[in-house]
Amino acid sequence: MRTRWSRIASRIGVVVTLTAALGTAACSGSGQSDELLIYSAQHESLTKEWIEAFTEETGIPVTYRQGGDTEMGNQLVAEGDASPADVFLTENSPAMAAVERADLFADITPEIADQVPEQYRPSSGKWTGVAARATVFAYNTDMLTPEQLPASMLDLQRPEWQGRWGAPPAKADFQAIVAALLQLEGPEVTERWLDGMKTNAEIYDNNITTLRAVNSGEVAGGVIYHYYWFRDQAETEEISGNTELHYFRNEDPGAFVSISGGGVLASSDKQDQAQQFLQFVTSEAGQDILRTGTSFEYPVASGVAANPALVPLAELQAPAVDPSTLDAQAVSDMMTKDGLL
Ligand SMILES: [Fe+2]
Repeated sequence: MRTRWSRIASRIGVVVTLTAALGTAACSGSGQSDELLIYSAQHESLTKEWIEAFTEETGIPVTYRQGGDTEMGNQLVAEGDASPADVFLTENSPAMAAVERADLFADITPEIADQVPEQYRPSSGKWTGVAARATVFAYNTDMLTPEQLPASMLDLQRPEWQGRWGAPPAKADFQAIVAALLQLEGPEVTERWLDGMKTNAEIYDNNITTLRAVNSGEVAGGVIYHYYWFRDQAETEEISGNTELHYFRNEDPGAFVSISGGGVLASSDKQDQAQQFLQFVTSEAGQDILRTGTSFEYPVASGVAANPALVPLAELQAPAVDPSTLDAQAVSDMMTKDGLL
């Protein structure tokens, strides 16, 4: 146990302080204890943009610890009421659900709930969506015509897809997609699909290496999140120039839209500031960072539209999923049994 936790701790990295830019906060003599501490599993660049804008608006200094969804969620559960964290931010819902199951979150305020439509936050009121990402099938346009694309993500278990698609099963991103499949279709369908994946799919480390393999023609297609493709398109097209995106739509499990979460730890002694942070992230100003920035993730609150390069969220025909009960642990157990992990 000790070894495992020290390994996790070493991967989490250093605490970063973002108060230097703020003369007022620095002059008021704010010490370590005045700082809001965020455990962040969101992309670091996005978390930093939110923190800087929040501190500029409120004068409240913020620090963060960076890690992955699963490791940060596990750390919060292990720390329990003794956690120094005030806020938890994730890429996907399952880590939020795990912390919620451990009963470690305070309720979000009605002001925050008012800013976020019901489909982008759990009905429990224990946390809120702060952004969203869409599941896509990136495909190599030299290898597949639009007519040859799978109608459903479940088709990828069929023999004709053997050796022709890839995915990153160890990543929390992909496990969230399979957790949605499990919730929507149950364990039998999910286990069968994972068996098919074991037979058919090439395994990659992450979304980027998967997209790179699709682009180079190593595989014809890959299941990833949309924003990795849009980021590369906006930059060099180095890993996406030979590819296009296929959206499964039709409420298919492959049309799953994953909600990135934000929650306030009940053990925090800075409830007011922590709630203010989530209120800012879900406000028009906070969501506008998603619309105009380089994250290419979807805004979910305060009526802010998506970056115009993206297919609007409302057109993706995503299946209805309860984010509070997405179970990544069950998925990871199934994947381990199947030899995918
Ligand atoms: Fe990501």
